[in-house]
Amino acid sequence: MDYRIKGKYAFINAGAHGIGEATADLLSQEGASVIVADRDGAALQEKAHRWTGVVEADLATADGVEQATAYVLATFGRAPDILVNNLGVGNSASFEEISDERWARSFEINLMGCIRTCRALLPKMAELGGASVVNTASDLAKQPEPTMMDYGTCKAGLLYFSKALAVQYAPKVRVNAVLPGPIWTQMWSRPGGIVDQLVESYGVDRETALKRFLEDRYMPLGIGQPEDVANAIAFLASPLAKFITGATLDIGGTLRGLI
Ligand SMILES: NC(=O)c1ccc[n+]([C@@H]2O[C@H](COP(=O)([O-])OP(=O)(O)OC[C@H]3O[C@@H](n4cnc5c(N)ncnc54)[C@H](O)[C@@H]3O)[C@@H](O)[C@H]2O)c1
Repeated sequence: MDYRIKGKYAFINAGAHGIGEATADLLSQEGASVIVADRDGAALQEKAHRWTGVVEADLATADGVEQATAYVLATFGRAPDILVNNLGVGNSASFEEISDERWARSFEINLMGCIRTCRALLPKMAELGGASVVNTASDLAKQPEPTMMDYGTCKAGLLYFSKALAVQYAPKVRVNAVLPGPIWTQMWSRPGGIVDQLVESYGVDRETALKRFLEDRYMPLGIGQPEDVANAIAFLASPLAKFITGATLDIGGTLRGLI
């Protein structure tokens, strides 16, 4: 597929694994120069040969975002044409279990990382003309569940933020969001990840727990792959989507809201 992004400069945050990694690879294969930021330095070093540059930073902190965006501006010698804000971490917990500290931490990860990165880069991206931002939200932003309230609340905020930015920066920078349903990444598969959390709450084995989760929520497309989201991000970031801004694209699991 030719997304017409050859020669463009792209910055992907939280891109060492999962959806961010698939997006970085796809944009790179399409001929863009790609910088990936992540806190997982070992994974970045292992995968660095696939991209133009990597920067290790904790993007849930002001210092980390400052360090990563400074690296991007210095390495490219200018602002990126494409910014993908992919940082997000969610874990199940009951409402009563989510302390003030956890709410604050979730806010830093799931909202402030994106906000700080946009504040650092968008004014400069606007000077380029034709730049675009894609933010990774979640189906939970539109389909609230009681088990991930901190995460879902931040992701809903991300939709408001994306639309407000789209208004402010039109026509110079387009800003869109993708809302993935369940996607098979380490968020699900890692020890203690969502599958293990489901095993604990349903009291069944891993395979049955995942199947039951998808059935309970009417998710007939099942679980998606990182490339399914990467393709949507690449499209929204590309000139093929030049007439799309302020949009929120449902991917997969959001179908459950229709019945
Ligand atoms: N996987 C899903 O089912 C799903 C569904 C909806 C939305 N999302 C969203 O997609 C995005 C990517 O999720 P994924 O499933 O690919 O996750 P993932 O766990 O595979 O990857 C997340 C990446 O973020 C990095 N990271 C975490 N905290 C960081 C920090 N403080 N600073 C820098 N990097 C940090 C990790 O090292 C990792 O590389 C997130 O915003 C997530 O909320 C995922």
